[in-house]
Amino acid sequence: MPNDSHVAVRNARDMLQDARHIAVLTGAGMSAQSGVPTYRDAQTGLWEKYSPEQLATPEAMANQPNLVWSWMLYQARLMRSVEPHEGHKILGAWQQELNNSGGSLEIITQNIDDLHERSNAEVLSHLHGTTFTFRCFECDVPANYELPPATPEQLAATPELDQLVLEDPPACTACTHGFIRPDIVMFGEMLPQQAMDDALRAVRDADVALVVGTSNIVQPAATLPLAASAAGAQVIEINPKMTPLSEDADISIQGTAREILPELYP
Ligand code: APR
Repeated sequence: MPNDSHVAVRNARDMLQDARHIAVLTGAGMSAQSGVPTYRDAQTGLWEKYSPEQLATPEAMANQPNLVWSWMLYQARLMRSVEPHEGHKILGAWQQELNNSGGSLEIITQNIDDLHERSNAEVLSHLHGTTFTFRCFECDVPANYELPPATPEQLAATPELDQLVLEDPPACTACTHGFIRPDIVMFGEMLPQQAMDDALRAVRDADVALVVGTSNIVQPAATLPLAASAAGAQVIEINPKMTPLSEDADISIQGTAREILPELYP
């Protein structure tokens, strides 16, 4: 049940203090305060402005490889150009401390950026892939492609599609007739099975599931907090807005990742 934030934070802090095994589930809201747009926030969300069908499906990539490739490259360059915030750093330190004392803090993220990794946290599972490894769109062979550093002009380019400088995806060096794509899960594609299996194991092992910055509507990620609860874990949500999880969470803190996480640890 959503509580008054101060009470909720105090109760969450008490609940987490004794937790030996914590599963942290993060969504786009975790990266928002680093400067990465979310998907569904009113006005600013990427899917409020563009349709996923146009930019994030295999069909779109097959039909307009250069538009989808350039869009994804823009996203990856933006994500690479921003920095982790205090909330990311807290999770990294918390994970370190629990690992050193025989406990665990396992991070399962829907995000395709590497902000958790760049704040010295290990990520157990990138449910929707990452935008920094690549494979062939045709033959699926991993591509040995390094994201080129962005020029100031490329970074300055706003995400308005009609201002994107279109680039063709590089050809696959294995099959030679395909082109490469980032290792992200596009709409309509299956999640990496290992990523989902690892995530389910972690939430079932957890004493507490900490759900940060997700609208909890995209499946199957949205089933994870419920799986945690069914296995006996307490569920704490951090989100400035109510979500479908808020009523079912043991504690729902209405606040942002960067402000609330430092209040929960150490
Ligand atoms: N701190 C915490 N939460 C925040 C913050 C913040 N600073 N800013 C926004 N939020 C919350 C919003 O209230 C919203 O509930 O983060 C959530 C972001 O929701 P979405 O934009 O839907 O992102 P997410 O839940 O991660 O989307 C899931 O959908 O498009 C696909 O693959 C994409 O991984 C993504 C998946």
